[in-house]
Amino acid sequence: MAKTALVTGSARGIGRAICEQLVADGTAQNIVVCDVKKEWCEETVAALRAMGAQAEALEINVADGKSVEAGIAEAVRLFGSLDIVVNNAGITRDGLLVRMTEEDWDAVLNINLKGAFLVTREAAKIMMRARSGSIVNIASVVGLMGNAGQANYTASKGGLMSLTKTCARELGGRGIRVNAVAPGFIKSKMTDVLPDAVKQKMLDVIPMKKFGEVSDIAKAVSFLAGDKAEYITGQVLSVNGGMLMP
Ligand code: NAI
Repeated sequence: MAKTALVTGSARGIGRAICEQLVADGTAQNIVVCDVKKEWCEETVAALRAMGAQAEALEINVADGKSVEAGIAEAVRLFGSLDIVVNNAGITRDGLLVRMTEEDWDAVLNINLKGAFLVTREAAKIMMRARSGSIVNIASVVGLMGNAGQANYTASKGGLMSLTKTCARELGGRGIRVNAVAPGFIKSKMTDVLPDAVKQKMLDVIPMKKFGEVSDIAKAVSFLAGDKAEYITGQVLSVNGGMLMP
């Protein structure tokens, strides 16, 4: 039977690559592309349809409980089921701890951590009834190791990995698996803006001496989301070129 996947923040970047990989691998055939604005999703939807998938765009602000509730309900209405959810939406608002504003702390925690909680809570209700489902959360290597200037972001990603493990424990008996992927430094709009000196510093500590591609993350997500990982839950899979070996 065709599987339906919903990927948050999938208008571009890693989220878009995840949607395409899920289709390319046959992990899902119906894709719900969602982002803060519906129109931002058009390119991803067109690319997925060109690959032969059923794809629809939805406007979901993951930090807003009402938006999430309505979005998940609409996804189920569109495709009749919800088998895979990827919590990918995320932002950075970097700054040193002593200068970090409460606003920047809240913005990052609300989207990166509370957003994943809200989406997982609504999706779990659907998946529990179906007694099956797979959720993948996009964390980060810095959530494991810490990073100066990213108190808010690292806390959100560390929290997301803990949330992953708790959800795996709560939902495992209902046939729902919950895992995380922790990307290292991946070429995307999020990292394009970093100064060259910072990029060089990162390269120096990556044994593979190159940055990752969005497809590297997408392949790991598609594996964890799909049936090949049917006995894997509560795990954090690092995809970082060897940057951190926990
Ligand atoms: P990106 O900035 O290119 O994409 C993020 C997407 O999330 C955008 O489409 C944005 O509109 C969407 N988004 C932002 N706020 C949202 C909200 N409230 N509701 C719904 N969608 C929202 O970033 P990228 O690189 O593709 O990142 C994707 C995920 O991967 C993020 O969670 C990020 O933290 C994580 N990540 C990225 C790394 C990298 O090196 N690029 C490294 C480690 C983790």
